[in-house]
Amino acid sequence: MIIGVPKEIKDGETRVAMTPSLARHCVALGANVLVEKAAGLSAGFRDEEYRQAGARVLPKAASVWAAADLILKVKEPQPQEYRRMRKGQALFTYLHLAAGRELTQALLDRKVLGVAYETVEAQDGTFPLLKPMSQIAGRLSIQIGAYFLQTQNGGSGVLLGGIPGTAPGHVVIIGAGNSGGHACRMAVGMGARVTVLDRDTRKLELIEEEYGGRVITLYSNRANVDAAVRDADLLVGAVLIPAARAPVVVSQAAVASMRPGSVVVDIAVDQGGCVETIRPTSHHDPVYRESGVVHYAVPNMPALVGRTSTIALTQATEPFVLKFAQFGVQRALEENRGLAKGINTRDGVVTNAAVAKALAIGTG
Ligand SMILES: NC(=O)c1ccc[n+]([C@@H]2O[C@H](COP(=O)([O-])OP(=O)(O)OC[C@H]3O[C@@H](n4cnc5c(N)ncnc54)[C@H](O)[C@@H]3O)[C@@H](O)[C@H]2O)c1
Repeated sequence: MIIGVPKEIKDGETRVAMTPSLARHCVALGANVLVEKAAGLSAGFRDEEYRQAGARVLPKAASVWAAADLILKVKEPQPQEYRRMRKGQALFTYLHLAAGRELTQALLDRKVLGVAYETVEAQDGTFPLLKPMSQIAGRLSIQIGAYFLQTQNGGSGVLLGGIPGTAPGHVVIIGAGNSGGHACRMAVGMGARVTVLDRDTRKLELIEEEYGGRVITLYSNRANVDAAVRDADLLVGAVLIPAARAPVVVSQAAVASMRPGSVVVDIAVDQGGCVETIRPTSHHDPVYRESGVVHYAVPNMPALVGRTSTIALTQATEPFVLKFAQFGVQRALEENRGLAKGINTRDGVVTNAAVAKALAIGTG
């Protein structure tokens, strides 16, 4: 079993899919681990640490891709990487195929076994590999929003926490799951006025139990969303329908009703976004203005804190990666139902129903 870990090449990406400590575990289970030179550097892990863990460090991405039975990544393959994928190779990474038609086609054309982090399921039906990155993105969304609300950064000049004698900023969060819940925690911590909307009333009950009247909770319907968005200084999009394209919850008209210089951070952009005016941005060019509102929609926000994110991500992937290392790809998938839920493409067909529906193609 050969596990390959290429250096991430998505814009601004700083995470790596395997730490030296995880490499050591895999090697102890009998796997060969190949790591591309400098793959862990931006997360603070040196090549020497991987060598000491028993991994081989290869100078070129091409050699890692060519030799590995299983490619372990963080972000979806980029167009420059498509040609490196080969028939029968397994890929374990975030894929977000509902918003990635070209990538899906590349995986199908090359008959890659695509196992997506975001659809791997725990026994209780939750998504353990989505959770830590969502929590990080949720926490980041508030500090990013606060930054872009500053006048010099194009914002309205609102300080989220205000000071005694001034009104605090209003943070509106759509979606009360992992990312929305952690955005809420940070917004409350900064002293903002906070409103959270969701369709799942159990999620709203949890917020209510935790924060009491400190946070307003609202059912997510058109009227409530429109009214809350109109009054928001910072709007955070944090919805998810597993594996599907994100529903558009906030209309263009609602965005246009916001005060000039207000900020939208759409965390859900990796699944297409839940704000009508959103389009993906990058770490190098993170915002644009539309209807006078600053839009931030970076699909790999956790790369801003590569060290924390790498540690959090690899802690979550570790049990699954160790199964691959010990049993090989096929047996690991056969014996672990939750891991098998991660399979999105196999033998040239899409196997995940929600992805197939989003892309309007048939399932296998
Ligand atoms: N941009 C990034 O860097 C980044 C990082 C991590 C996660 N994400 C993405 O963030 C999104 C949210 O992930 P999560 O882990 O918080 O999901 P989650 O499942 O924990 O929470 C999503 C919530 O959205 C709610 N929801 C669904 N439809 C809704 C609607 N119409 N109105 C209001 N609420 C609705 C659900 O009830 C749920 O509570 C996903 O697309 C995920 O991939 C992005």
